[in-house]
Amino acid sequence: MLKDLQQEIMRLKKERDVCILAHSYMSEEICEVADFTGDSYALSLKARTAPQSTVVMCGVRFMAETVKMLSPEKKVILANPDAGCPMAEQMDKELISQVKESLPGYTVVAYVNTTAQLKTVCDVCVTSSSAVKICRAIPSDNILFIPDINLGTYVKKQIPEKNFKLLSGGCPTHARMTKADVLKAKTAHPEALFLVHPECRPEVTELADYVGSTTGIMDYAEKSDKKEFIIGTENAIVQHLQFRCPDKKFYPLSKDLICHNMKITTLADVYGAVVGESGEEMVMDEQTRLAAVKCIEKMIEYGG
Ligand code: 13P
Ligand code: SF4
Repeated sequence: MLKDLQQEIMRLKKERDVCILAHSYMSEEICEVADFTGDSYALSLKARTAPQSTVVMCGVRFMAETVKMLSPEKKVILANPDAGCPMAEQMDKELISQVKESLPGYTVVAYVNTTAQLKTVCDVCVTSSSAVKICRAIPSDNILFIPDINLGTYVKKQIPEKNFKLLSGGCPTHARMTKADVLKAKTAHPEALFLVHPECRPEVTELADYVGSTTGIMDYAEKSDKKEFIIGTENAIVQHLQFRCPDKKFYPLSKDLICHNMKITTLADVYGAVVGESGEEMVMDEQTRLAAVKCIEKMIEYGG
């Protein structure tokens, strides 16, 4: 039944010239029908080069908006319209415009997990895999980093020579993790390396053997000689890694490390989006797109 639906999606996406992009937090069954699976940065790059006329984004709203910004000529569909990222909704254009007025000369660096509207008043975007590189590369010593205080704190620590102002936004899923969760997991699995996403609190990332994006964590675990890993990001990554590396063992940092927004997209949604029966087509006025895409283009320029 599942295989039948997957095969039908594979057939239809070719017939209808559809590219399916899936964030790494999607389920295994969605990743299997995707043309490309990766972290936010890799998905942004793919959005520009995918040859198909339609893109179905299996992820959250800001990811579909990013695809539309980079490929305005394409039809871009968010597979499940209810899939939003709570962090992306935490700060709006009006708030950040006010904060900017009080910090003249600061470069506004926005995590890509922000709305298109907010991006219109920012200077450069970053993702979790590119944030340190880009903040180092930008020709400014004064950075207002929004919205994630945990990613901002992590980046600031790597670049002590620059001056960072942080605001108190963040990912509710990753920020739930505590030092006590890490110590419990390490006690249960003393041989395991601890790999973590920088959206976690400093008390958690400080205990890690590796800090990186979803793709970074997967690459690290796949290439490592070690056999056991505690995974400090959304639990879909535990499942993908166990599937790819059956000879290794992967443990979730916590059973609570689940992003319900990422989980609501189903294979049925993907089918519906490919055949045009469900999903939401991204519509963006050209003025907003042009103002917002500048900081995504800067991210790609500095990020390489
Ligand atoms: P990545 O940049 O690792 O894809 O992370 C995106 C995200 O939403 C993490 O919560
Ligand atoms: Fe947003 Fe956090 Fe979910 Fe990522 S894991 S989509 S940052 S709520």
